[in-house]
Amino acid sequence: MRLLPLALSLLSLDTALASVLAIDYGSDWIKASVMSPGIPFDVLLNKDSKRKMQASVGWKQTTRYFGTDAFNLASRFPTDSFSSIKLLQAVPFDSPAASQYSRISSAETVKTTRNTVALRQSDGTQWSIEELVAMQFSYIKQLAEATTSEKVSDVIVAIPSFFSQFQRDAVVDAIEIAGLRTLALINDGTAVAVNYAMTRNFPTPEHHVIYDAGASGIRATVVTFSTGNGTNPATQITVAGVGYDLSTGGTELDRRLREILIEAFNAKHHKDIRTDKRGLAKLWKEAGRVKAILSANTEASSTIESLAWDIDFRTKVSRVAFEATCEDLKPKFAQPIEDALRNAGLTLDNITSVILTGGSTRTPMIQTAVKAAVGEDKIALNVNADEAAVLGAALHGASLSRQFKTKNIKVSDIGAYDVQVSYLATASTPRTINTLIFPAGSKVGAKKTLTFKRKEDFVINFDYKEPGPANFPTRFLEVGITGVAEAIANLTELGATDPVVKATLTLSESGFVSVSNAVAFGEIKDESIAGKLKGFFGGGSSEEAEEKTEDNRPRASESVSSASSANASEPSPSEKKVVPKDNTISLNTTVVFPTIPPMTVEEKKTARSRLRAIDLEEAAVARKEEARNTFESYLYRMRDLLDPENRDTPFKQCSQESERQAISDKLDESFAWLYDRGDVAETSQFLDKRNALETLERPIIHRYKEIEEFPQALNNSQMWNWSTRLFLQEARENMTAEAAADLPSKWTKEELEGLEKTLKEHETWLNEWVEKQKSVKMNEDPVIETTEMKARAKVLETALMKLVKRKVPKSVKKKTTTSATEAPTTTATSPADGESQTSDEPKPTTEPTVVVPEGEQQAPIPTIHDEL
Ligand SMILES: *[C@@H]1O[C@H](CO)[C@@H](O)[C@H](O)[C@H]1NC(C)=O
Ligand SMILES: *[C@@H]1O[C@H](CO)[C@@H](O)[C@H](O)[C@H]1NC(C)=O
Ligand SMILES: *[C@@H]1O[C@H](CO)[C@@H](O)[C@H](O)[C@H]1NC(C)=O
Ligand SMILES: *[C@@H]1O[C@H](CO)[C@@H](O)[C@H](O)[C@H]1NC(C)=O
Ligand SMILES: *[C@@H]1O[C@H](CO)[C@@H](O)[C@H](O)[C@H]1NC(C)=O
Ligand SMILES: *[C@@H]1O[C@H](CO)[C@@H](O)[C@H](O)[C@H]1NC(C)=O
Ligand SMILES: *[C@@H]1O[C@H](CO)[C@@H](O)[C@H](O)[C@H]1NC(C)=O
Ligand SMILES: *[C@@H]1O[C@H](CO)[C@@H](O)[C@H](O)[C@H]1NC(C)=O
Repeated sequence: MRLLPLALSLLSLDTALASVLAIDYGSDWIKASVMSPGIPFDVLLNKDSKRKMQASVGWKQTTRYFGTDAFNLASRFPTDSFSSIKLLQAVPFDSPAASQYSRISSAETVKTTRNTVALRQSDGTQWSIEELVAMQFSYIKQLAEATTSEKVSDVIVAIPSFFSQFQRDAVVDAIEIAGLRTLALINDGTAVAVNYAMTRNFPTPEHHVIYDAGASGIRATVVTFSTGNGTNPATQITVAGVGYDLSTGGTELDRRLREILIEAFNAKHHKDIRTDKRGLAKLWKEAGRVKAILSANTEASSTIESLAWDIDFRTKVSRVAFEATCEDLKPKFAQPIEDALRNAGLTLDNITSVILTGGSTRTPMIQTAVKAAVGEDKIALNVNADEAAVLGAALHGASLSRQFKTKNIKVSDIGAYDVQVSYLATASTPRTINTLIFPAGSKVGAKKTLTFKRKEDFVINFDYKEPGPANFPTRFLEVGITGVAEAIANLTELGATDPVVKATLTLSESGFVSVSNAVAFGEIKDESIAGKLKGFFGGGSSEEAEEKTEDNRPRASESVSSASSANASEPSPSEKKVVPKDNTISLNTTVVFPTIPPMTVEEKKTARSRLRAIDLEEAAVARKEEARNTFESYLYRMRDLLDPENRDTPFKQCSQESERQAISDKLDESFAWLYDRGDVAETSQFLDKRNALETLERPIIHRYKEIEEFPQALNNSQMWNWSTRLFLQEARENMTAEAAADLPSKWTKEELEGLEKTLKEHETWLNEWVEKQKSVKMNEDPVIETTEMKARAKVLETALMKLVKRKVPKSVKKKTTTSATEAPTTTATSPADGESQTSDEPKPTTEPTVVVPEGEQQAPIPTIHDEL
């Protein structure tokens, strides 16, 4: 009974609310959280109940591993274990970032058709970075689904604010390949801010710096918090500035520490460990371990047995030595804070606190640098540093999905890079016009409309003004505006003067730049025939309103338009009133990715089916493993049951020698088969073999169950027997009494005789077969089944209940109602006489003395009912 409501509530939740998955995908660690109705909000635990998981995927022969298992494979299979993949997202094959990766990882890199990096397993299988990341996302999705017991499809991913459009595309492509849907991307510093604001209010605005020292780089985010009051109690988070440095992340510190270990080994053993991939992989893991020790100690000893060439390597690393090799990095640790403050137009005096987050903030020299830069009293250590970003991302995702009630927090983020557009001028001597369209610090969600005087198709190019810290190409998008000539011609035809092309450029909430709309637009003068016609039919007022809002956009970018010499023609509001809607014609856009293209739809489809094929294969392997395990444990259980040591067990008591022999023979055969063929057998064979044994065991189990259930079934039959007899006796007595008093009875004599007949049949059957059953041995099949006993008792129960539920006949009432009808006549004649009314009234209602209250009618059987 308890299962049902639970199942029902799960079902209703399933259809009503969708879960939101949040992933903080780092170079070293993945943290995830799932917001789902009915489960407490927290980080997602991995299969080992850990709160974070290593961002690694790897293979041992054909078996795929994730997390620590995958990371640890590197020391044995250095080219089949892939870690720090985040560093390769969207990275061009021939780039400094790709070479940097090769310095830390033994994985073999190859070039994709998109000129990005793929990694190659030792068996030659290649995986794009998007696919490898997607595998991990998909793995997290499965963890989340196992936790919530429902499908999870919406995801928000926390990314560094310095991620370019290339990298953002790579993240979104991985999400898609994983079979998830992108709710949003959120800058990780902003996510930490959301988490920080969740439990705090800011009646007076406060500025804080979120300092995140991760593996891939250090970033600082200056955030302004303020909580409204009265009618608008929302808390506003405004990102005011960001700063970052990619040369000082935790991965770089690991690399430098490994250099110390490498040098120590080479000096001591006069061999170059750099030539040994396994050895390098082992040292990479060791460097991470030593770094952690040096965070709390001034010296760490390191021992690796059989590091390479059967050499056991022992050394000691001091914190002083480690910090000495990082001397050049020290000035850079706090630089992002200064950059972020400068971009925000603030100084340290304006800052309430500096919130430290990210694994590398545990490194003493980084802490020291930050403390020296901002003052120790500004450091806030009261946030859960490691999980703040993923929890904040989940909270933000939940508020975006609008399916959860969360604190009202509004987020206003910014773009980190200067984005400019360029296009060819129409002048006879072509020259390129550059316009800074979204300068660094532009608010996400911003739209700008550019106006062009064009008669032909043209192209708008999008560039980052600077290559950026990761040295990506600057050009990321080329958008062609097509169909211009025809649209302009049509507008001119309609009487438009100087029609123009307007393109709306958007910086999306997730930080993507695109052309969101392109139209040809022309002012159609009132006097023109078309205008008159349109004016006559009256362009609807709703269109007018639309025109006006459209209008605001060009105005917002007026300076851009004039600066770019693409002259905006602004119709005055009075003209607008009569302008018909046909003065804008939608234009088509074509998108070209000139440098690092995101994956095409086809490529993503292919990738998705590759991943799905692995998932299916793994599921089949898991099923087979399970079938084999259950088969094996079934065999051992049977062997135990047959063991001569185990006497007088139900199994022995309920089985015959011949049956046990048959099972024993089959069991020997099955054991032999399992050892012989178990490793190559199919899932179905395990199931078939088990089934064959179960068929032999089933009659024995059946006997045992029948013996167990028989007393209760008999009790039930006797109960109905007993209560029917009791009822018949009482009913007959009542009938006799009623007949004597000349009162009607609820039943006829025949009905009671019919019930008695049913009772007799039941009793006879019961007596006969119970007697027979008594002589049946335990190891013989029962002669009566408990199911049949229950069915027969049911027949008797139905017959009995039919009569028990019978209502008292109406005829009794008739007598009382005749006396009642007389009463009103007297009251009717003397309506003023209240007393006679009340004295007469009760009569008809209190009259029916024979009526048995509902409850009492069922009196003979309540105990039986309870028993059932
Ligand atoms: C709301 O905030 C404003 C300024 O922040 C303040 O002047 C005002 O007193 C506040 N109102 C209430 C009701 O707290
Ligand atoms: C920052 O601090 C300076 C000086 O302390 C002050 O003049 C300025 O108004 C502050 N700015 C903000 C936005 O609080
Ligand atoms: C614009 O795109 C639509 C739909 O793809 C197409 O039918 C139409 O022909 C295109 N128009 C031009 C001018 O390219
Ligand atoms: C231009 O006008 C022609 C003729 O009315 C029409 O067929 C065509 O679709 C129009 N083109 C555009 C882009 O509005
Ligand atoms: C823009 O238009 C105005 C008149 O509307 C004209 O004076 C000006 O020269 C134009 N500028 C450009 C760059 O075409
Ligand atoms: C039969 O049912 C009665 C009433 O609940 C109970 O007291 C008695 O123990 C039961 N007998 C058996 C054999 O189950
Ligand atoms: C049925 O009930 C009657 C009266 O209680 C009893 O005498 C008789 O033995 C019962 N029969 C069986 C088969 O239990
Ligand atoms: C017999 O009559 C008594 C008294 O009216 C009543 O309580 C009882 O329920 C009746 N029995 C049956 C079986 O109807």
